[in-house]
Amino acid sequence: MLKKTTIFSLPAILFMTSCIAGRDVSFTPGEVWPDNNGVHINAHGGGVLLHGGKYYWFGEHKTEGTAGNLANVGVHCYSSENLCDWNDEGIALTVLPEGSGSDIEKGCILERPKVIYNKGTGKFVMWFHLEPKGAGYLGARSGVAVADKVTSPYTFLRSVRPNAGHWPLNATEHHKTGPIPSAGQNYGGASLPGDVDSLNLLARDMPGGQMARDMTLFVDDGGEAYHIYSSEDNSTLHIALLTDDYLGHSGIYTRNFPGRFMEAPAMFKRGGKYYLMMSGCTGWAPNRARSAVADDVLGPWTELGDPCIDDVQGTTFDSQSTFILPVESGKDTFIYMGDRWNPDNAIDGRYVWLPVEFEDGRFVLRRQDKWMMNR
Ligand code: GAL
Repeated sequence: MLKKTTIFSLPAILFMTSCIAGRDVSFTPGEVWPDNNGVHINAHGGGVLLHGGKYYWFGEHKTEGTAGNLANVGVHCYSSENLCDWNDEGIALTVLPEGSGSDIEKGCILERPKVIYNKGTGKFVMWFHLEPKGAGYLGARSGVAVADKVTSPYTFLRSVRPNAGHWPLNATEHHKTGPIPSAGQNYGGASLPGDVDSLNLLARDMPGGQMARDMTLFVDDGGEAYHIYSSEDNSTLHIALLTDDYLGHSGIYTRNFPGRFMEAPAMFKRGGKYYLMMSGCTGWAPNRARSAVADDVLGPWTELGDPCIDDVQGTTFDSQSTFILPVESGKDTFIYMGDRWNPDNAIDGRYVWLPVEFEDGRFVLRRQDKWMMNR
């Protein structure tokens, strides 16, 4: 039985009776967002899958205090038909018991889970950033789990460092044949002691696979799925085609934004163009957002700058991107999903969802304390 935080019951009732009026749905970024039980939604670093006319929100189940930043429970799932009334569907992927030795043992770091549906196999596939227990963020791995039913149970298959033994499509001769000054070195954080290509982190990680931390998934119109992750000691974003069953990496990938330390990637497609929203690399503290556009999902990508209008603090309105949700209304509607982390009391992290607007060939976000969406 999961511990419920019930202090939110009263606002929950108020909120639940007020988030929908006629065909208008309202959002209150940064407030407590109660589920059908009056409990603040616990799905951080998440993403939303639309399946069979319903939205399914998957995210990190956090617990209280600083220890709550570790994965003590698993990945939580909620469902909704209107994007504001969310039903608790329980834990979709459960961490395995302490002492089990599993990569997803309780106390590991399991972040930014995303779920996609494979029409060919009929399976739901979840990928997430995984740091096996006890090694901080040194693992830089991706985990994959699979389910027959959208809500659960997801079975953990394995964790990997992607694309071992494969050069990206845009690798240079220098990567392939040049020296590897970074051999045997690990660099943390948001800087390197030199240029990423001179250090040749790519070649360093060829044998064991590429590092993969902050991540998202994107499914293109033809059903091809891509895994997008911060790699090469966070310095460079890789965009990698998954295999047809979505359970592995195809070996086809590109390096993007080398040396820009892009994190928190969220990708969407509109009018034949691909867009990315990303953050810089400052841990739980929010920073100024970045955005980019491309004609091909694998790039090349052109940076479009900070999509946030009048973000005077330069903090993405005190949030960090996790997903951009295409709303199934045929109305060209997209919602920015961000996290307002609370690393001191992880369970109390808040959600900042904002309408995505388009102007001058780019997408933009504006601060809103409350906004309405017509369904
Ligand atoms: C952020 C990242 C989060 C989490 C955090 C830990 O940069 O986006 O998902 O990993 O760092 O400090």
